[in-house]
Amino acid sequence: MSDKPKEITRLADYTPPAHLVETIHLDVHLDETETLVASRMTLRRNPDAPTNQRAVRLDGRELELVEIRLDGAPLSTAGYTLDSEHLTLPDAPERFTLEITTRIHPETNLSLEGLYRSRGLFCTQCEAEGFRKITFYPDRPDVMARFTVRLEAERVRYPVLLSNGNLIESGALENGRHFALWEDPHPKPAYLFALVAGNLSCHEGPFTTASGRPVTLQIWVEPENAERCAHALASLEKSMRWDEERFGREYDLDRYMIVAVNDFNSGAMENKGLNIFNAVYVLADPETATDSNYEDIESVIAHEYFHNWTGNRITCRDWFQLSLKEGLTIFRDQEFSADVGSRPVERIRDVQSLRAFQFPEDAGPTAHPVRPDSYMEINNFYTTTVYNKGAEVVRMLLTLLGKETFRRGMDLYFARHDGQAVTVEAFLDAMQTASGQDLGPFSRWYRQAGTPELTIRQQHDPDAEVLEITVMQQCRAHGQSEAGEPLVIPLAMALLDRDTRAPLPLILEGESPENAPLERVLEVTRPVVTYRFKNIPRPPLASLLRGFSAPVKLNSPLSNDDLALAWGADNDPFNRWDAGQQLAMRILVEGARALPDHPFATPDSFVAAFAATLTSPDLDPAMKSLAITLPGIGVLIEAMPEADPGALFTVRESLRRRLAHDCRDTLLALHAANLTPGPYRVSGEAIGKRTLKNFMLGLLLADPDNDLAARMAADQVRQADNMTDRMGGLVPLVHTGRPEAEELLAAMEHRWRDNPLAMDKWFSIQAMAPLPDTLARVQRLMSHPAYNPRNPNRIRALVGTYCRGNLVCFHDPSGSGYRFLTELIRDLDPHNPQIAANLVGALTRWRQFEPRRREAMRQAIDTIVTLPGLSRNSYEIASKSLA
Ligand code: TRP
Ligand code: ZN
Repeated sequence: MSDKPKEITRLADYTPPAHLVETIHLDVHLDETETLVASRMTLRRNPDAPTNQRAVRLDGRELELVEIRLDGAPLSTAGYTLDSEHLTLPDAPERFTLEITTRIHPETNLSLEGLYRSRGLFCTQCEAEGFRKITFYPDRPDVMARFTVRLEAERVRYPVLLSNGNLIESGALENGRHFALWEDPHPKPAYLFALVAGNLSCHEGPFTTASGRPVTLQIWVEPENAERCAHALASLEKSMRWDEERFGREYDLDRYMIVAVNDFNSGAMENKGLNIFNAVYVLADPETATDSNYEDIESVIAHEYFHNWTGNRITCRDWFQLSLKEGLTIFRDQEFSADVGSRPVERIRDVQSLRAFQFPEDAGPTAHPVRPDSYMEINNFYTTTVYNKGAEVVRMLLTLLGKETFRRGMDLYFARHDGQAVTVEAFLDAMQTASGQDLGPFSRWYRQAGTPELTIRQQHDPDAEVLEITVMQQCRAHGQSEAGEPLVIPLAMALLDRDTRAPLPLILEGESPENAPLERVLEVTRPVVTYRFKNIPRPPLASLLRGFSAPVKLNSPLSNDDLALAWGADNDPFNRWDAGQQLAMRILVEGARALPDHPFATPDSFVAAFAATLTSPDLDPAMKSLAITLPGIGVLIEAMPEADPGALFTVRESLRRRLAHDCRDTLLALHAANLTPGPYRVSGEAIGKRTLKNFMLGLLLADPDNDLAARMAADQVRQADNMTDRMGGLVPLVHTGRPEAEELLAAMEHRWRDNPLAMDKWFSIQAMAPLPDTLARVQRLMSHPAYNPRNPNRIRALVGTYCRGNLVCFHDPSGSGYRFLTELIRDLDPHNPQIAANLVGALTRWRQFEPRRREAMRQAIDTIVTLPGLSRNSYEIASKSLA
């Protein structure tokens, strides 16, 4: 068994901090071989702590203690105790100052947590518990202090010295060194601390807040990337304006800085006034960034900016409350994208990713509530459940309370808790006060894991002209959470006339027909509820869970014929899209289950419905692309008991081949109709057209006999002036193993070998190919000069894409993918446990698969869990998978 500490932290054990930190001054001497950190803190006993504790316990990991003084007097080793995680002073006065100097080694820190080096930069990542790798401190979010930071470094190599807040002073020192002094007026938890030092250039712009305060916006990047910041800056301005208009929230410091770094474990970090970003979410020009890169930059910049109010001004009391800031901030960035772009497109994409990632997590061994009750390693809880299901829970409140009441609830939340570290209850209570509704039953969404299942039956009585709809909800019990209690589920619905497609007035029994609504939100609170709608002479087409009004699995009462009808007719854009998804899903899963005895044959009715959608005049290009996208292998695996990814792929490709063949002329016509002549532009309209055009190309290439399409794709790659169109042509050529692919790949490699973000695309195209030699290729690419086995972006692009994206190859029945992953973990886990644990996540759903794969996956987890010295991160994921 593993020799790792398996200590579990529980929400139920929360106690307030024994000591508070009023101020902390940090003096950081940056150096390539050893960095000295001198802190001076003023602490006092917490009057609200349950016991009057004289002992002071600070967190600290991998720190060398150089010196410690209490109220100016040096402490000998007898004056404190030190273990691998803590520094403890047995006895301290009511108020005191503590001066601590530590020595740390950012140059060998590959975990990218705490202070580390990224190429020529020094930078930090403190969320969740990285500050304790910089100095000894009560490293918990409910300890909020005022920070001042003095940075000192060699001037030539580190001309720029940044930290949170306002720059107070800077200047030259002896020996070619210089310093900068920063002060952050807002008390903050240590996880929001940041510093950056290096040779950076700044792309800046002015902003005036709604109340007229000037702010300087700065994007800091390596000098060679100075020309790639315009989109990031524009996105920041847009986000700031939107938060003022939609939520009445203004920015609160004189500067807002964003720094792009190359080595980063996640997307970006909302450090107060000094966001640190993964470069992929900052840098963009048409030559190297795709349309989706542009879109991602806008939404990640928005997300981090929105944290200034939901996360920084109001933060979490403890890490169990993570969704208080993350779920709410994801909700806010989704609303931003919906408001500045297309609301239906945004909704469909958010649900696509919820179903592809969150539903599987919620159905597997690492399932946990939006507010978990316990964890081994908090870094494992930055999950799609906490983020995306958390956002859905906030969205349900909006649906249940209405837009105005919801906004009043938000205003009250900000007014009550500004400057505090609070719990999910504080948020719910503000909503409850604003609405006057009892949200007690609703709050169960935060405590109960698992995706509820709704089964709906309908029965029409032509004589009584009544439609009866029965809704049954089932919540399976899940490991650590309350079992199977019914939830409050907002079920948005309408009834459509089959001929006119018009929505019918919804009159429940006992209601008057006057002013009957055409859409309603039923509040399902019990395990079984029946609704009876009057004045329905003919069986209507039911439109249920419109807009995906709750994060549930819906067992639809619609027949395949009705789904085909809804795919062309539902007046809710989400449901129209989803009807196509459900129909395709039924056909594909049934087709895969029938293999190998019954070869798959695409139903003609599906081809007809697909063709109708393809030519539908009332879908814009972006919506059309979504409407005709078949469900991915990931969601199909979840829908197939004893899943066989190979069979699913075979069936899905056979369907695509048939569509490509039968609809060839329409696909070609749509391709031609959606060209975007002239220079590359980033607008919703242009992106929509490029998406549809490239979708057409991809589908045409699913027909192996279509050599014309292959030539079109190759020409597009050669002639394009932007990365979106180059990828649009190259991806299907590589993925179908066409002879043109190799030469084009070589040209791309030659052109972009010095641009890591462009090379990431080159790596991931190849890792994603559903071809027999892909694993061998990935292994070969791991020794490519542009690959770096310690850089998270490279890892994600190559081996991450293979293990988590290319499900057909990864799940090869031989088990080769699983063995490959095991070896990766052996190499990576000692250096970067966060990224390693994430990769282990590729194995957790082993119970979902057919016996051969299931057994091979379980063996791989067995091997991983017993690796000597395995990190707490990977151990938690692996061991939970076996439980
Ligand atoms: N708070 C960050 C966000 O969602 C997430 C994050 C950034 C993070 N860096 C991290 C989470 C490192 C865990 C580890 O915006
Ligand atoms: Zn966030």
